[in-house]
Amino acid sequence: MCLVGKVVSLGLLTIDDVDTLTRWINQEEMREYLSTYLPMYASQEKEWIEKLPSRMPNDFVFGIIDNETKTLLGNIGLHRVKQKDGLAHAGIFIGDRQNRKKGVATEAGQLLLKYAFDTLNLRKVIHEAFAHNEASIALGKKLGAKQEGVMKSHLFINGRYVDVVIMSYFRPGCEPKD
Ligand SMILES: CC(C)(COP(=O)(O)OP(=O)(O)OC[C@H]1O[C@@H](n2cnc3c(N)ncnc32)[C@H](O)[C@@H]1OP(=O)(O)O)[C@@H](O)C(=O)NCCC(=O)NCCS
Repeated sequence: MCLVGKVVSLGLLTIDDVDTLTRWINQEEMREYLSTYLPMYASQEKEWIEKLPSRMPNDFVFGIIDNETKTLLGNIGLHRVKQKDGLAHAGIFIGDRQNRKKGVATEAGQLLLKYAFDTLNLRKVIHEAFAHNEASIALGKKLGAKQEGVMKSHLFINGRYVDVVIMSYFRPGCEPKD
């Protein structure tokens, strides 16, 4: 396990996770909340996992693991890391509905931000959410994100163009003075 919290930990994904991840990513609701839209084969998911080591330090992906049952609950990651600017984009999903609204994403997000700021020495993490994704926006607020703006009519999702809200987390002490 890489990053250990009270209820969940962030660990590395393995080939054993392929079937679970393939099931989750092909769920219809993922196309409502994430920008992924192509059907995903297990073979592609396997290849994606196998390539994760070579994508660091530009992308870091962790499995969110239940400390008690050791089961995979979802994924969280830092993407498009720019060391020069101290910047990254965060992404998260909790795969099964019954594991949501229990504080899992909050603790996973806290662990991810701590890793971003205290280990990778990043300064700012961006959290983008579709404007209709109340859960993602609530999660951002809970984790201390501030809204920076809205990209209007930005992405074509399930038959309509949706707004995308941009929120950000600054490392404590690095907040802009405005
Ligand atoms: C967004 C997501 C990761 C949140 O995960 P979660 O484990 O349910 O979040 P938490 O339980 O830690 O809740 C965090 C906050 O969001 C609130 N929240 C969670 N789901 C919510 C919902 N559907 N509507 C409104 N608020 C919600 C919680 O109440 C909590 O705030 P509070 O403590 O002030 O009440 C989860 O809903 C998910 O995986 N959704 C599908 C994929 C997705 O949208 N990913 C994000 C893309 S940007």
